Amino acid sequence: MDLTGASALVTGAGRGIGRAIAVALGGGGASVTLVSRTKADLEETAREVEAAGGRTAVQAGDLRRRADCDAAVAAAVSAHGGLQILVNNAGIGSHVPVAETGDDLWNDVFETNLGAAFRITRAALPHLTKRGGHVFMISSLAGQNAIAGMAAYCASKAALDHFAACLMLEVRHQGVKVTTIAPGSVDTSFGRDPGSPRGESWMLTAQDVAGAVMDLLGTRDGAHLSRVEMRPLRPPKRA
Ligand SMILES: NC(=O)c1ccc[n+]([C@@H]2O[C@H](COP(=O)([O-])OP(=O)(O)OC[C@H]3O[C@@H](n4cnc5c(N)ncnc54)[C@H](OP(=O)(O)O)[C@@H]3O)[C@@H](O)[C@H]2O)c1
Repeated sequence: MDLTGASALVTGAGRGIGRAIAVALGGGGASVTLVSRTKADLEETAREVEAAGGRTAVQAGDLRRRADCDAAVAAAVSAHGGLQILVNNAGIGSHVPVAETGDDLWNDVFETNLGAAFRITRAALPHLTKRGGHVFMISSLAGQNAIAGMAAYCASKAALDHFAACLMLEVRHQGVKVTTIAPGSVDTSFGRDPGSPRGESWMLTAQDVAGAVMDLLGTRDGAHLSRVEMRPLRPPKRA
């Protein structure tokens, strides 16, 4: 997929799925703006994107804050002359029963997984609609499948799914595609203690998700895949 001349913004680009998507976009020739809270992670991603052939801009910020969302979009537009591809990927998990979920955790999960996608997309729309574009929401199968002990996470991803579906109807006629990608288990550090062993070979890889983004960017202008679910083919069988 030749993305030469395209400007992309990837949230949560410091590691995991966001880093893999940023590297794939850069490999296609896109200029990629990288956003997350940890600048050192973004600088490592930037090295990988540039090694793959893409240009980068690094913008550290906490996307729970409106000003940081607006600054991320402004950085992409100023560094790369516009914005055509937006990947709302930043997300956090929660493994806490409802009875033990405090307001702070609930708000953090919703502000990161849903609020950030809303604020960044709102700021990006005037640029995406200029010559058409593509918004990706990295959701989760947890948005459609209830999981005990993960109510905040599941509810935030369910809301993200519906937000994306509404947005798609609002902007399709302006040439902006909106695609929700809902993966199952992906082998990243997500939800794991730092230093704990990597996942197992049955899991999806971050590169699988990045490959889906690249495939979707290659669809014909008049055709649109609005939702993609991704599953490991051979997960452990449940007893
Ligand atoms: N891994 C899975 O099994 C899986 C499955 C389905 C869906 N997903 C979804 O895929 C997305 C990426 O997951 P991942 O596995 O790649 O997770 P990850 O390895 O933990 O990476 C998450 C990224 O989001 C950033 N981030 C978190 N909070 C942020 C904030 N407030 N502001 C800015 N950036 C923030 C993190 O950087 P900082 O902490 O430095 O800010 C990091 O770069 C998430 O939305 C997740 O829900 C993951």
